[in-house]
Amino acid sequence: MKILSVETSCDETAIAIVEAKGDERHADFKILGNALLSQIEIHREYGGVFPALAKREHAKNLVPILRAALEEAEMLHEDKQIIPNDTRTQIANTLARESRLEEQFFAFIDESEVPDIDAIAVTAGPGLEPALWVGVNFAKALSLAWDKPVVAVNHMEGHILSALATAKDETLEITNVRLPALALLISGGHTELVLMKDWLSYELLGQTRDDAVGEAYDKVARMLGLPYPGGPEISKLSEALRKHSETPDAPPLPRPMLHDKTCDFSFAGLKTAVRVLVQDKDLSEKEKAHIAHEFEETVGEVLWKKTERALTESGAQTLVLGGGVSANTHIRRTFTKEVIDTNSNVALCLPQAELTTDNAVMIALAGFYHARHEEYADIEDLVANGNLKLA
Ligand code: KG4
Ligand code: ZN
Repeated sequence: MKILSVETSCDETAIAIVEAKGDERHADFKILGNALLSQIEIHREYGGVFPALAKREHAKNLVPILRAALEEAEMLHEDKQIIPNDTRTQIANTLARESRLEEQFFAFIDESEVPDIDAIAVTAGPGLEPALWVGVNFAKALSLAWDKPVVAVNHMEGHILSALATAKDETLEITNVRLPALALLISGGHTELVLMKDWLSYELLGQTRDDAVGEAYDKVARMLGLPYPGGPEISKLSEALRKHSETPDAPPLPRPMLHDKTCDFSFAGLKTAVRVLVQDKDLSEKEKAHIAHEFEETVGEVLWKKTERALTESGAQTLVLGGGVSANTHIRRTFTKEVIDTNSNVALCLPQAELTTDNAVMIALAGFYHARHEEYADIEDLVANGNLKLA
């Protein structure tokens, strides 16, 4: 089965074409095309993602990204298409608020062969709602033009499945996942512990009561005068300290909710503690590195302790990390070490580096399992939902 997937939930415009074979027990995914355009440079001057701008950029870039993905998959062929007038009207209505996108869309569709795909998967949420809508409407328009069904995908499910995938030759495979599987999802918008009890059936075990961990990284980075996105910048500073085996030298930061008996998190207090620490100070590069290091130690410890609690409570057999923050070297190292040290029998799955940040391949992986069972959306009812929940 060939899936074309669309991701526009945040600041990446991405389209992938993936050929999937198999079932829940064992599936192979061959990436035929994968095109992605990051808007990070554009948002950097705002110190974060600016939703109206993200939306405009997605609208501008979707057709060129589609072309690039199809071309890589060798599915881009010129061919005149005759789209019936009532379908044209429906497509125009779907893309109504994006006149430039509509123009580009028809210019492309009218001159291109319908690709050999079986379904279109699109991120329906969670994320920035205006950004999500562009992708959802684009997927609906493609569905109308090509007469292909649409699967609505939860972005967080994409993060979980891409972490379960291992690379083998030119393909990815998801095989023999031992359930229940516990997922720690850490991104700019999420900090959640989600249990996959049965295949693609979830229970929320814990979540942040205030800021997401990625948000804390970004805000602390800003306080230290580092550019957006802050996660990689903080990591760079503190890894350099570790590399030179310098003795940590920063006042200890609070470990929020470490001893509380739930699997919930809180990062607002930690952020405030850093603010108090840096306020009105002209910090040297060295002082900044020590604060970054202490911040990472705190985050690593809190994330692991809460995950350990959730592992014990749920009896999970597999532990998965997903979301942009799961690219973090210190967090990956901490989890790898703790899983070994605690002698736990759990299988730890870390996503491949290029699949940690938002991408469309992960949406295709998730889309496949739903498309297999023909869980297609009625495009009349399909909506973008910024707060879409897994459980
Ligand atoms: O999943 P993602 O790409 O987008 C959202 O859905 O939010 O996650 C973005 C977040 C940002 O907060 C960014 O600072 C953080 O992931 N991030 C990192 C690293 N790479 C990205 N945080 C810590 N260490 C990293 N290496
Ligand atoms: Zn994400």
